[in-house]
Amino acid sequence: MYEKFYGFTEKPFNLTPDPDFFFLSSVHKRALDHLVYGLESGMGFIQVTGEIGSGKTTLIKCLLRQLSREVKVAYVIHSKGTFVQILRMILEDLEVVAADHKLGKEALLSRLRDYLAEQARYHNSVVVIIDEAQNLQLEVLEELRMLSNFETAKAKLLQIALVGQPELRDLLRRPELEQLRQRITVRFHIYPLSEQETRSYIRHRLNVAGSDGAVRFTAAASRVVHRYSGGLPRLINVACDATLLAGFVEERRVFNEQFVRDALRELADERAAFLAESAAPGAPAAAEPAREPGPRALPAAGSPRRGLVAAAAAVLLALGLAVALFLVRRGGAERAGELWRIVTGR
Ligand SMILES: Nc1ncnc2c1ncn2[C@@H]1O[C@H](COP(=O)(O)OP(=O)(O)OP(=O)(O)O)[C@@H](O)[C@H]1O
Ligand SMILES: [Mg+2]
Repeated sequence: MYEKFYGFTEKPFNLTPDPDFFFLSSVHKRALDHLVYGLESGMGFIQVTGEIGSGKTTLIKCLLRQLSREVKVAYVIHSKGTFVQILRMILEDLEVVAADHKLGKEALLSRLRDYLAEQARYHNSVVVIIDEAQNLQLEVLEELRMLSNFETAKAKLLQIALVGQPELRDLLRRPELEQLRQRITVRFHIYPLSEQETRSYIRHRLNVAGSDGAVRFTAAASRVVHRYSGGLPRLINVACDATLLAGFVEERRVFNEQFVRDALRELADERAAFLAESAAPGAPAAAEPAREPGPRALPAAGSPRRGLVAAAAAVLLALGLAVALFLVRRGGAERAGELWRIVTGR
């Protein structure tokens, strides 16, 4: 919608996990390193957790791009099914079975065993990545553990990465899953971005979308975005997209703290509650460049600026009335009437 106005080739803050926009923050880099290390070292299970919207799926998509051709990957996103349904998805993704097959559990396991043995002969490794793994049922996790029993004397034939929201950690702490827990050799949690990284993230996504630098969030504006989002990339995107939309309406390309606050207020969600407070600590609005005038430059109803204007008008009206009364008393009714018309505009 606003891409043309800003000169973007595409929307910079889409909510899809597009690896083209991947920003290698320190936490995402370490998560990627852990995944690559875990998958390449053939150690069994890897656990990656992160808050909702912290970038887990985007990370997986980047990983899939990086892995060499010798690594055969099955990527499972529908993790709510039974073990057999998940096994089917794995084998279909590995192109071991066709999508319309009617094989049962034993036959599927046998196909998998043969496939793993064959890939081991070619020195290829086989990897299963399960996204949204917090949704896996207990029995499914237990059966997945059994899959890691496919191994040679030296290495596991199948690496499994469980990627999910923090509930995955709770799930894996269950006493019933002790055996699985002991097989998890690499663990990593994706924490939200820092304030500084939020700023770099915003700049990065604007650049990838084709910005020539004219579109900018000031440091204080990025701080508001960080405060709103808690450093979670998906919420950063929501905040920046709302700001860009408001900027499009007001024809502006540089966003200061106040502008972002106004744009977020219009989202009217519970995360924006902090906006009711005065400026963020250490970020006085007065230090920000003045707002550019635009079609929507009128202060919002109830804002301090609109209150001042109303008060000034009331004082002027009262003064006019006082002068008119004074003149009536002194017999200058005609002039007073004229003055009254000027003051009231009638
Ligand atoms: N490192 C990153 N670089 C660029 N964009 C990112 C990054 N991490 C996340 N994003 C963006 O944030 C949004 C949410 O990311 P993603 O879908 O990967 O989160 P998630 O952790 O998988 O969320 P959920 O818990 O809901 O599955 C996407 O638009 C994605 O492009
Ligand atoms: Mg996801």
